[in-house]
Amino acid sequence: MDNFRFNAPTEMLFGKGQISNLPEVLSKYGKNVLLAYGGGSIKKNGIYGKIQELLKDYNIVELNGIEPNPRIETVRRGVELCRENDIEVILAVGGGSTIDCSKVVAAGYYYEGDTWDIVIDSSKITNALPIVTVLTLAATGSEMNSGAVISKMDTNEKLGTRANCMSPKTSILDPEYLYTLPAIQTAAGTADIMSHVFENYFKKDKDAFVQDKIAEGLLQTCIKYCPIALKDPANYEARANLMWASSMALNGLTGSGKVGAWSCHPMEHELSAHYDITHGVGLAILTPSWMRYILKDETVDKFVDYAMNVWNLPYNEDKFALANEAIDATENFFKECGIPMTLREVGIDDSKFKEMAEAAVNHGNLQYAYVSLNKEDVYKIFSMCL
Ligand code: NZQ
Ligand code: ZN
Repeated sequence: MDNFRFNAPTEMLFGKGQISNLPEVLSKYGKNVLLAYGGGSIKKNGIYGKIQELLKDYNIVELNGIEPNPRIETVRRGVELCRENDIEVILAVGGGSTIDCSKVVAAGYYYEGDTWDIVIDSSKITNALPIVTVLTLAATGSEMNSGAVISKMDTNEKLGTRANCMSPKTSILDPEYLYTLPAIQTAAGTADIMSHVFENYFKKDKDAFVQDKIAEGLLQTCIKYCPIALKDPANYEARANLMWASSMALNGLTGSGKVGAWSCHPMEHELSAHYDITHGVGLAILTPSWMRYILKDETVDKFVDYAMNVWNLPYNEDKFALANEAIDATENFFKECGIPMTLREVGIDDSKFKEMAEAAVNHGNLQYAYVSLNKEDVYKIFSMCL
């Protein structure tokens, strides 16, 4: 296990009705609040109304219309709003897109140049306004980490940035807020949680037993509860477990002590940057093909662990057969959750594979991945997903 520094500073308020603590949480920071949200789901499901009622004594300015795959233009608009209105705290209500956008707005407030600079170079982030989140989608883990991913569509770039000061101060996680999610968002969110676990589980370090056992438990949680949530959207137990899994999958718990670059995320970010697809859908499409591509003598033992400890598959002397069974199970699971499982189904053909493969390798340092990937490898993986 590699040396590491683990720091998960976000206070988590989990469970039914936790929103009632919002006035007290925000009061630590001031009265001028930027309320950040997406395309309006929070108005339809009543969360917006509840917040207005609770925050009667606050001065609220709204940053609305944050896109899935949030755009740099929206971030810039948010920074201006904060400056014009002396904002003291940002309240992000939504999924990863709203939270990520809020993080970069919070940091952009203190940065004098163009906000895109702090996306491409996180060392330029010096400070951030405090952020409080109300999570409405179990997926990214953004509610409990310091990362943010922002898109610049005119140049087809979707890049991640990170700074400790962007970690939310408090996140409110009420599983009932997930009841109104469209089925595809529940499924894609679960695929995202699983992918965060895969990215750290499939690493070269062999002795991070604690991390790997937590990882296997998180994967089993997703496999058990996503189908229940899809069948019965108001199943509290299912929503609660998926929501907590989202936060645990990307708060450093499973990734600390493991070295090397991620694999599917850099590839997916290229798909989103060029075709604006849902992050979790792109990951679900890529994952089985990536697994098949990297299955070889050096990796087969890890896939055997995955097969037996996650899918409970019986031991088979033929390790490759067992590994392939687990990969098939992964693919079937995503399919049964209703995720389109080919690139063609989401409107992607091979015309940009070369460009995207090159960018994925450059942005994602894929030469340092679990199995090192160059642009030809990524091209082949994209082709397998058609
Ligand atoms: O915009 P609204 O109207 O709110 O609708 C959203 C949006 O259309 C809807 N939604 C969210 N909660 C809902 C709901 N609809 C009904 N009921 C609810 N309770 O769902 C749609 C998708 O929302 P979005 O925030 O885009 O989804 P997600 O949480 O999956 O976030 C995806 C973004 O996060 C980035 C992704 O790349 C992508 O840009 N990621 C962020 C990470 C991080 N900060 O650590 C890591 C991830 O790997 C990921 O890259
Ligand atoms: Zn992700």
